[in-house]
Amino acid sequence: PCRRCRGRERPMSIVSNRLVRGQLLHFLADPGMGDDPAAWQFFDDGGLWIRDGRIQAAGPWAALTAALPPGVGESATVHDYRGHLVLPGFVDCHLHYPQAGVIASYGRQLLDWLNDYVFPAEARFADASEAERSAAFVVDRLLAHGTTTASVFATVHPHSVDAFFAAAEARGLRMLCGKVLMDRNCPPDLRDTAAGGMADSLRLIERWHGRGRLRYSLTPRFAPTSSPEQLRLCGELLASQPGLHLQTHLAENPCELDWVRQLFPTRGSYLDVYQHYGLAGPRSLHAHCIHLDAAERRSLAAGGAAAAFCPGSNLFLGSGFFNLDASREAGLRVGLATDIGAGTGFSLLRALAQAYEVGQALGAPLPALRGFYLATLGGAQALYLDDCIGSFQPGREADFIALDWAATPELAWRMERTTTLAERLFALMMLGDERCVVATHVMGEAAFVR
Ligand code: GUN
Ligand code: ZN
Repeated sequence: PCRRCRGRERPMSIVSNRLVRGQLLHFLADPGMGDDPAAWQFFDDGGLWIRDGRIQAAGPWAALTAALPPGVGESATVHDYRGHLVLPGFVDCHLHYPQAGVIASYGRQLLDWLNDYVFPAEARFADASEAERSAAFVVDRLLAHGTTTASVFATVHPHSVDAFFAAAEARGLRMLCGKVLMDRNCPPDLRDTAAGGMADSLRLIERWHGRGRLRYSLTPRFAPTSSPEQLRLCGELLASQPGLHLQTHLAENPCELDWVRQLFPTRGSYLDVYQHYGLAGPRSLHAHCIHLDAAERRSLAAGGAAAAFCPGSNLFLGSGFFNLDASREAGLRVGLATDIGAGTGFSLLRALAQAYEVGQALGAPLPALRGFYLATLGGAQALYLDDCIGSFQPGREADFIALDWAATPELAWRMERTTTLAERLFALMMLGDERCVVATHVMGEAAFVR
């Protein structure tokens, strides 16, 4: 906990002022494979000034505090994280909250795993209390892992979206969620209809989209479980409301690709199915994107869509290796994701270690600075939310975390033998997990304290 206030906070004055002191790191752009020094800022003795939940200034502590208006320094609540790494909150670009209860279900591959474990788990969400208990559990676990924003699949049941958004709203979180659209090739108790799915989505949009920090994301599960009519209506709804988001899955598994070819014989490719129905533009987020060629990556990027890189899930289900470097070279927006429940944990630090190993398999090991960019600003850019979150630029919402460099004996031992920031960050991403999370702040306030 914060040394100065020990978790206690001073009563809110009319304007709430906070100062955060620690080793500050944030990104202005992707540092790439070469640690571009113009892409990031690090302040070894750094400070954040937060006013009413938003970043007012970030910089070296001495300069920041010297430039404060009269009275601010004296009246501010100080969060002293000296010795810890202070980062913008992690952004998890793709997860299924109803699948938290089937994490670590013996795999085989995507389609068997969906039938054997995922669909039965999602069917249990017909019970609204199961949805409410799961939503509270997942949101609290996200905070404990340092994740402050996520793009989240619910189930086909509209009340599963209500449960998730209510849990996020109660904790003041910026979150995206949507009701799964799925009108074929799934169990009857999880099936909607093209018209019914749209009517449910519209009601949820009216209830939740733009309420506080929440945004609605239209959620066709993936091409095989939606009829052409459902995809067509979904594209129409997406185009009709500026600001709506869309999330789905694309090119995850070779059997899935064959299936899409059979189901949509007149379309040129899996990607072409989504493009045809207007489901691959700005604010559309496609999980996996493993089995795409160079022209498809360029085409996805040119349309303004984004990819969610889910290395843990891709290893767990044996889906393949996402080519991060080729995707970024093609100009594609990429965020990092756990893809719970095919991913086996909520930690984006663990996801970074998995991303590094996937990169190794492709001959392009992920550098640490690019990794921490992906987990913060990269995710915000993939979600088109970088004007709100993902960095410490003035005006951004003050969601941030403090990480302990030496949370385990192995980390402490290794850190004593590092000499550069890049080395320390790399050791943190390879050896770290939720044990490193000292505190998670939402709009300036401590929402989780270790
Ligand atoms: N493709 C369609 N649905 C799913 C899902 O729930 N998880 C994963 N990993 N892939 C999918
Ligand atoms: Zn998924």
